Amino acid sequence: MALDLAVIGGTGVYRLAALEDVESRSFQTPYGAPSGPVRIGRLGGARVAFLARHGEGHALPPHRVNYRANLHALHQAGARRVLALNTVGGITEAYGPRVLACPDQLIDYTWGRASTFWDGEGEPLHVDFGQPYSPQLRGKVLAAARAAGIEVVDGGCYGATQGPRLETNAEIARMRRDGCDLVGMTGMPEAALARELGLEYACLAIVANWAAGCGDAAEITLEEVLENVAAASAGLPQLIQALLQA
Ligand code: HPA
Repeated sequence: MALDLAVIGGTGVYRLAALEDVESRSFQTPYGAPSGPVRIGRLGGARVAFLARHGEGHALPPHRVNYRANLHALHQAGARRVLALNTVGGITEAYGPRVLACPDQLIDYTWGRASTFWDGEGEPLHVDFGQPYSPQLRGKVLAAARAAGIEVVDGGCYGATQGPRLETNAEIARMRRDGCDLVGMTGMPEAALARELGLEYACLAIVANWAAGCGDAAEITLEEVLENVAAASAGLPQLIQALLQA
């Protein structure tokens, strides 16, 4: 049965508390196992699926996430629209800790990840990726945020790094020169795989910290990251409800 929305949760977001009548489904895919079960339930009148990108106990680091299996499983579950929640560091001024942002561009600095469903067999799959996030879904996310009274920065460039270590100050300075506003470890290849499957995909970035060398903190700690993600995520259920009504 078709879904109205699939949500992929990132660091600090391991479930959608508002989901009701939840059914857990374990999918097998030609690419292996996804990060965990797909939780499918009702939110308002809509059918919504949730998948924790790192597994429900956050066992999988960004470079070990099976992005292909995750997207394939959501597609099998009937997803056509995917809202990806990504915890990030902020680089430029408008993207400080606890800000929510809906980026419109990305730069991929990851390497060695299985980044396509097309492994050389069949028709070449050079998907258009000029606009890496679905303008339609982005528009709906921004409208839903306005309707729910939640501030979301419109646009910005997401730089996807390999991790799991955080970046050096010089790496972030380079990313700033490249035009990145945000830095995270999980934005790619997820967005490209979603495009290959024809899914409408948008990112809601949750800023957890200033990226290396951008703020006053001597060090970025996991405690700070989780605290800021929890605070910034408070409005997510209302935002998602509003998105389902859009
Ligand atoms: N860099 C990369 N990924 C992140 C960061 C960061 O500073 N914070 C949260 N995810």
